[in-house]
Amino acid sequence: MTTPLALNPANRFTPMLQINPDLTDLVSDAAVGLATRLKSKATITAAAPGRVNLIGEHIDYCDGFVMPFAIDRYIVIAGCANGTTEARITSAISEEIAILDLTKTQEVGEPKWANYLRGVIRGFQDRGHHIPGFDAYILSSVPGGAGLSSSAALECATATFLEGLLDTVLDTREKALLCQKAEHDFAHVPCGIMDQFASAFGKPNRLVLIDCQSGEPELVPFENPDLTVLISNTMVHHELSDGGYAARRKHTEDGLAILGKASWRDVNASDVQTHWEKLGDPINRRSRHVVGEISRTIAAASALARNDFETLGPLMAASHDSLRDDFEVSCKELDIMVEIARKIGRNGGVIGARMTGGGFGGSTVTLCESRKASEIANTLASEYEKATGIKPQIFASRPSLGAHLIGK
Ligand code: GLA
Repeated sequence: MTTPLALNPANRFTPMLQINPDLTDLVSDAAVGLATRLKSKATITAAAPGRVNLIGEHIDYCDGFVMPFAIDRYIVIAGCANGTTEARITSAISEEIAILDLTKTQEVGEPKWANYLRGVIRGFQDRGHHIPGFDAYILSSVPGGAGLSSSAALECATATFLEGLLDTVLDTREKALLCQKAEHDFAHVPCGIMDQFASAFGKPNRLVLIDCQSGEPELVPFENPDLTVLISNTMVHHELSDGGYAARRKHTEDGLAILGKASWRDVNASDVQTHWEKLGDPINRRSRHVVGEISRTIAAASALARNDFETLGPLMAASHDSLRDDFEVSCKELDIMVEIARKIGRNGGVIGARMTGGGFGGSTVTLCESRKASEIANTLASEYEKATGIKPQIFASRPSLGAHLIGK
């Protein structure tokens, strides 16, 4: 989901944001953090990125297609075996050291932020692995609560760290699914597969186009230097997001049951229209979103492949409108940010803009012409601040390497 370690606002984990983060700096800072806070020397360092989604929102749990990429913002875990049966884990943003007894099967516990790690350790334990004691220090450049999947990044970084610790390698798909299960069981967010797949499978210059019915990711080229992806963090996070997410998922399940179909891939727009009254509000609107977003994403993937930006832009716009009006996961601030991008328009270099991720706050994604990207970023920042009084974080990102061990 979007907010790492933050089911309880009191335990909110807002990773340190580095506006211009360099993974090499992050790695050396994490080693320093480990040495300073836990007096240990890093022998294993894992990194996993957040993600941004270009299109295909709230349909990964509906057998849809999604088109995210791994961003160049990472969570890094530096650590080492400590010769005990305990994990000692701390991070850049908290003085707290979480101690986990590894002789026990991991369960949800306190502090809450450590549940993401417990959940992943549990996944390894369920596969028969015995986890030796370790020290670990967490450092992040993925903005927290920004809809950029810092929690998936933390899960994937943990799984990759454990691979290093155990000197084993999981199949990438299995690793992503293990991390998704950690999110379900230990963070109680019934997420789909998009975030963990993007963080695990990401590659430089590639989008991770996922067919969520088959569970197969396809790495699609995205290397046109004339295109820039701007991420605009509205700095707004609505607290009810977790309940809102589960409620939306339930609506889609109810919709499918009412339509009497086994998969959303077997439903078309006229099925929804025909059964509009029977579906009832809001399930009919939720259903219209799912069906529309699946076809928009297929159309967007093909438009992008042929550099047809005049088709792609309106698809992104329609996606946002549907998320705002039918799926109701946008918010005022996301709408304002998208509206500013729309006003800049095609002549100003904007190809398309929409909210990205789970919604209820978080970020928008703006696809634009590289030569106008800084000007666009400045306008987004100043107009948004004028309209809301909030300073946003706006940065360009590019498809980057997924979860990996450093130096391996
Ligand atoms: C969150 C979930 C994903 C996906 C998006 C919405 O990020 O973790 O699985 O459902 O919301 O597209």
